[in-house]
Amino acid sequence: MSKKKNNSKKKSLASKADRHDLYLKSVQCPEHEVWFLNKTFKKEFGRPAALLREDFCGTAAVCYEWVKKKTARNAIGVDIDPDPLQWGRENLTANLSQAQLDRVQLLQQDVRIVNGQKADIVAGQNFSYWIFKTRPELLGYFKSAHANLADEGILMLDMMGGQETLEEDREEITRKNGFKYIWEQKRFDPITHDCSFYIHFRFKDGSELKKAFEYHWRLWTIPEVTELLAEAGFDRVDVYWEGTDPKTGEGNDVYRVKKHAPSDPSWIAYIVGVKSKK
Ligand SMILES: C[S@@+](CC[C@H](N)C(=O)[O-])C[C@H]1O[C@@H](n2cnc3c(N)ncnc32)[C@H](O)[C@@H]1O
Repeated sequence: MSKKKNNSKKKSLASKADRHDLYLKSVQCPEHEVWFLNKTFKKEFGRPAALLREDFCGTAAVCYEWVKKKTARNAIGVDIDPDPLQWGRENLTANLSQAQLDRVQLLQQDVRIVNGQKADIVAGQNFSYWIFKTRPELLGYFKSAHANLADEGILMLDMMGGQETLEEDREEITRKNGFKYIWEQKRFDPITHDCSFYIHFRFKDGSELKKAFEYHWRLWTIPEVTELLAEAGFDRVDVYWEGTDPKTGEGNDVYRVKKHAPSDPSWIAYIVGVKSKK
């Protein structure tokens, strides 16, 4: 009798889960992001980048990874929400030395503020800039990112699109170690391009962390973004398109600059705004 009582009191896996930890395990790969940022800057300017400004940094996982690899690197992480910044401080810094930590500066503020040392790279990843829903708002952000860059620098953004991203009530379920990561496209308005996405996590005991993260964005298109970047002052804008694995027909995680691409039902690309010395 008492055993049954104890079992019923047992906490569900969802109630014990840490949403930031699950997000990191599902969405982000800081090592890969750092590798790609570095490679893209080096290709452009023939030298390594020293200062990364990670806009919309969340837990600042990419900033911590950036300073870990090389002593000549510094990072500024910017996020308006103190919660992920604090989680990152408490959970992502154990393997960093004091000297490495001293090279990370976290700013709890709006990404549109222009301040701090001018960066070699400004990165705004995971579609976060889609929070800006109007042309003037997005242009304003791109202008401040341009002003936060040194005379030679790049702004790295990612993009997603394709017919499937326009569908409502579409779920993509990915099996992870011990849980399932669910990306739900809930709503897409073809007139305004307003869209809502949710991240849920499902566990082996059937419990769920519903709406662990939610995003209410405008689904921008590549031409809109590239035109606004040019208007904001970037000297060149490149689109890095993912190649296809001939065996599977799926993306191969290799991104190269392309002027044209085939229509793919679901794609991810990078857009790089280049600021160079006149
Ligand atoms: C989609 S998450 C991205 C987290 C992380 N950069 C990544 O790549 O996974 C978006 C983040 O942007 C932050 N954010 C939203 N609007 C912002 C703004 N105007 N200025 C600064 N941060 C903002 C949110 O607090 C949230 O942490």
